[in-house]
Amino acid sequence: MKFDKPAGKNPTDQMKVIGKPLDRIDGPLKTTGTAKYAYEYNEPNKGHAYGYIVGAAIGKGRIDSINQYAAKRAPGVLAIVTYENAGPLQKGMFYVDRLLAGPEIDHYHQAVAVIVAETFEQARSAAALLKVNYTRLKGSFDFKALKDSSITPKRGAYGPAPQSEVGNFKGAFDTADVKLDQTYTTPDQSHAMMEPHATIARWDGDKLTCWCSIQQLNWGVRDLANVLGIPKENVRLISRFIGGGFGGKGTVLSDIVAASLGARAAGRPVKIALQRPLIFNNTTHRPATIQRIRIGTKKDGTITAIGHESWSGNLPGGMSESATAPTSSLYAGANRMLHLRQAVLDLGEGNAMRAPGEASGMMALEIAMDEMAEKLKMDPVAFRILNDTQVDPAENKRRFSTRLLAKCLSEGAEKFNWNRRPDSVGTMKEGKWLIGMGVASAVRGAPITKSAARVRLNKDGIVTVETDMTDLGTGSYTIIGQTAAEMMGVGIEKVIVKIGDSSFPESSGSGGQWGAASSTSGVYAACIKLREAVARSLGFDPEKTEFSDGKVHSGSRSFVLRAAVKTEEIVAEDEMTYGELSKQYAQDTFGAHFVEVGVNVYTCEIRVRRMLAVCHAGRILNPKSARSQVIGAMTMGVGAALMEDLVVDKNRGFFVNHDLAGYEVPVHADIPYQEVIMLDDVDPTMSPMKAKGIGELGLVGVAAAIANAVYNATGVRVREYPITIDKLLGKIKIDA
Ligand code: MOS
Repeated sequence: MKFDKPAGKNPTDQMKVIGKPLDRIDGPLKTTGTAKYAYEYNEPNKGHAYGYIVGAAIGKGRIDSINQYAAKRAPGVLAIVTYENAGPLQKGMFYVDRLLAGPEIDHYHQAVAVIVAETFEQARSAAALLKVNYTRLKGSFDFKALKDSSITPKRGAYGPAPQSEVGNFKGAFDTADVKLDQTYTTPDQSHAMMEPHATIARWDGDKLTCWCSIQQLNWGVRDLANVLGIPKENVRLISRFIGGGFGGKGTVLSDIVAASLGARAAGRPVKIALQRPLIFNNTTHRPATIQRIRIGTKKDGTITAIGHESWSGNLPGGMSESATAPTSSLYAGANRMLHLRQAVLDLGEGNAMRAPGEASGMMALEIAMDEMAEKLKMDPVAFRILNDTQVDPAENKRRFSTRLLAKCLSEGAEKFNWNRRPDSVGTMKEGKWLIGMGVASAVRGAPITKSAARVRLNKDGIVTVETDMTDLGTGSYTIIGQTAAEMMGVGIEKVIVKIGDSSFPESSGSGGQWGAASSTSGVYAACIKLREAVARSLGFDPEKTEFSDGKVHSGSRSFVLRAAVKTEEIVAEDEMTYGELSKQYAQDTFGAHFVEVGVNVYTCEIRVRRMLAVCHAGRILNPKSARSQVIGAMTMGVGAALMEDLVVDKNRGFFVNHDLAGYEVPVHADIPYQEVIMLDDVDPTMSPMKAKGIGELGLVGVAAAIANAVYNATGVRVREYPITIDKLLGKIKIDA
């Protein structure tokens, strides 16, 4: 099915199941500990062995020799795989990192060997006996020092062209009535998901099955086949539950490659979980940025010039962090300039992390907007609404399909009691706590992509959906089930959802917040086919047949759904593909974040007290799972604002705080009160589901809203994230 004109009325508009805040259908499995994650598939892998990855001990250089003498003879060791015996390996097609190093070492903790043994402890113990001799080379690790050596990349990973200009930015900025020219920095960040990257690999002849934890099974099959040099048809990936990914499990990483190579060498299934201390340097991260923002306005606050430059670094050929993305579309302004630059670094690979581009870009842009509002003596909400637009300002042609940014801001301001925010800094106090409020807009693209599904109706009236979609805790199972239930006119209890297996029809996978809208649209397409087959089986005209309350109706006649099944089952399969609507309409999601903080005037501890997100993202398929996505994202925003920081050792070349003790993220006690409002809407230009994603929108802007609240509380403007105590100590000039 091809979607090439805006959706009219269709079965999803019944909203009997879709749009309801249903509990997760996989909830009981999760809460009883019976949902199986990659590492837990022991039954089909009887006799499996354990793999342990040895990470490079240097940041840049080469392996001179590997002495396996002691490791080979250690108890229980079955195989040792290094570059010397792995056979030729290619790169995947998404990540640029080589997933098994040697003889060159590209970055610290790059995998140099996998030890396979009977038990985990034996593998780990043998790994300690492997002697790898290196020659250390001088690497490039100091991003700030390399800033001036950076060049315009060929492409950003996501978002707009690396360099673009509309009108005459410099002329307009130079002659603006009010100007801001500020630089902001964001640190390297880690996904820090709960479930480590993990795989069980099993060979049956030349066929490889991997139980793994990745977001995009179609990319995974492609990349694993490519890395190992085997046909795609010989690779099957199973990823039924994922304990968080945040973009860090997009496709094949070292655990899958090492398990596959280890299993081949040992002649047994092999399971590997990347050791937590390895994950931070071995896998990908969100790259640090330096961002210069210039805004020029008229006296009344109308933006006439807006410029955003961003610098980041990566391994050679790595993507660049498209931090300029939000500035291309968020605010009006006739003269605009965006420019990305990239330095070559010898740290682990920088790549997608939740809302890549927008998340770090908005950390800068939305402080700049706050600073500008202050210069203009305008309320920050009013300043943003004044510069709202319904036309994509990057090209001044496409209208936004739907854009209720102003409503997000005004409704949020009302609900949050924004009018209680003090106009001058440091004037609201509660004992030793200085109180402040901050706001930020949110924008994130609404990509949608081809997705297929198969649906089966059996003679008991049970509908089974099969698609290789994944659920990283997002709620995919449930919204896919809701879609099939709505389409077939049954309750969710009549639907079985099978996902996370690459042998099912190829879905969109989970990434870039496209998963919800895309995967359910594929299910919609398959269900349209199933409805036609059901109608024909009952002698109905498919055009005049309706499905509701477990029945199929046409004219005055109706049957129970299962009556259509004459033999075992009716099976239908289709995919949703897309025409040119995204070229006609700018499709984005919008929101506003409001935060209240308290800052201890003596210790400078920052406590987030209240948070509110107002989101505009088309039809909300399940308000409960969508809310969970947003509150999780808001929590991640607190981490970005106040805690998360991969600290680089600039001499040795690695992220120093490479575990969950040193890399801090928020815990329950950090998050006292969160509220989420979803504006009720549909976007018929997206797909028949009229929905968009929300999982990344919830993060974008949060950190800046917190930074702005800290400023409002203390009068100290911190432009280098994270906002830690040391950046406030001795700077607060307010008496308690
Ligand atoms: Mo995402 S960061 O594209 O999974």
